Amino acid sequence: MEDEVIVSKRRASGTEKVSSIDGETVESEMEQSMEYTEEFIEEEHVPHEEPVGLDLEDLEGVGRVTAQKLRQAGYASVKDVAYASSHELATVLGSEERALSIIRAAQRLISLGKLFMTAKEYYEERKNVAYISTGVRALDDLLEGGIETRAITELIGEFGAGKTQLCHQLAVMVQLPRDRGGLNGRALYVDTEGTFRPERVVSMARYRGLDPEKTLENIIYARAYNSDHQMLLIDEAKHLIEEEGVKIILVDSLITHFRAEYPGRENLAARQQKLNKHIMQLAKIAAIYDAAVVVTNQVLAAPDVFFGNPLKPAGGNIVAHGCTYRLWLRKGKEGKRIARIIDSPKHAEKESVFTISDEGVLDV
Ligand SMILES: Nc1ncnc2c1ncn2[C@@H]1O[C@H](COP(=O)(O)OP(=O)(O)OP(=O)(O)O)[C@@H](O)[C@H]1O
Ligand SMILES: [Mg+2]
Repeated sequence: MEDEVIVSKRRASGTEKVSSIDGETVESEMEQSMEYTEEFIEEEHVPHEEPVGLDLEDLEGVGRVTAQKLRQAGYASVKDVAYASSHELATVLGSEERALSIIRAAQRLISLGKLFMTAKEYYEERKNVAYISTGVRALDDLLEGGIETRAITELIGEFGAGKTQLCHQLAVMVQLPRDRGGLNGRALYVDTEGTFRPERVVSMARYRGLDPEKTLENIIYARAYNSDHQMLLIDEAKHLIEEEGVKIILVDSLITHFRAEYPGRENLAARQQKLNKHIMQLAKIAAIYDAAVVVTNQVLAAPDVFFGNPLKPAGGNIVAHGCTYRLWLRKGKEGKRIARIIDSPKHAEKESVFTISDEGVLDV
């Protein structure tokens, strides 16, 4: 447990003080505390291939009535059931035993039943993972191809670092054809801070040679008003994703509402548990629907750190373990921005430089 100073600007709370960290003057606010609960997100990188035209009624042990119950509870497809936890599904089906047998049936149907594979098979399977170009060569190189599908990429940084700008740009880039770094897909933009600006999308689309009107139509926008609303949106999103061809889900920012609604040490456990659920939701959607998830996160400064970097991402272990890739953005000299990947399972620790202009996020 440690006291920390939040460096990111907190629009939600509206209170801003000024302090000096690393020689730079930043707006900040005293935070009560941050915890480090030991709950880790389970990896959801399970390969799958759903045969077309499967209905819930195709599941062994599921009749019309049960199928209806499942649909009402938000389990719309065989995939949803296959990835559910028995505990979760038991509330719909009455017992964990029954839930488990139906989950297994769903997993068998979509070939999740296979428990082991060789690394070679996994390697082959991972070739289906796709990448969305950030529109910045230096960042794509850093990320070894761009933003990955079936994973959560976290953009970390202090205020003005460029997190929101990059989210806007990704909502545009995903629409490009594959040979230009996109996935010919649409974007879902969940805005928790009210900082989405369609005008920025218009400028970025023009720069990329896209029709601005069409580009805007391909971004499905939702403003999240509180953490419950944010989670509801993601719950509902799964219906949109397949039908609307969404290939990237952007949540800007992941944590603002959670922090504002659950302040102080006494609410920490509840907040982290809920945040964990939210990240699980996102991880599941990424894995099931082959989409990329990008979330933004604030930076905190621990005043008790005397050596090394006193800044760290908000959200503790829950966010650190829940996100697959973490890209840390910071402001450099002359308006430049510096990006670094931290804690990656596959990337080397190196840095890239980029800039932000009227046309969007660009190479220097
Ligand atoms: N049209 C533009 N032309 C040039 N630079 C711009 C333009 N729009 C935004 N910027 C730059 O982007 C910065 C804002 O970046 P952004 O909103 O992405 O920050 P952020 O990391 O999301 O911060 P926060 O934590 O406050 O949400 C501005 O400070 C400015 O430097
Ligand atoms: Mg922002």
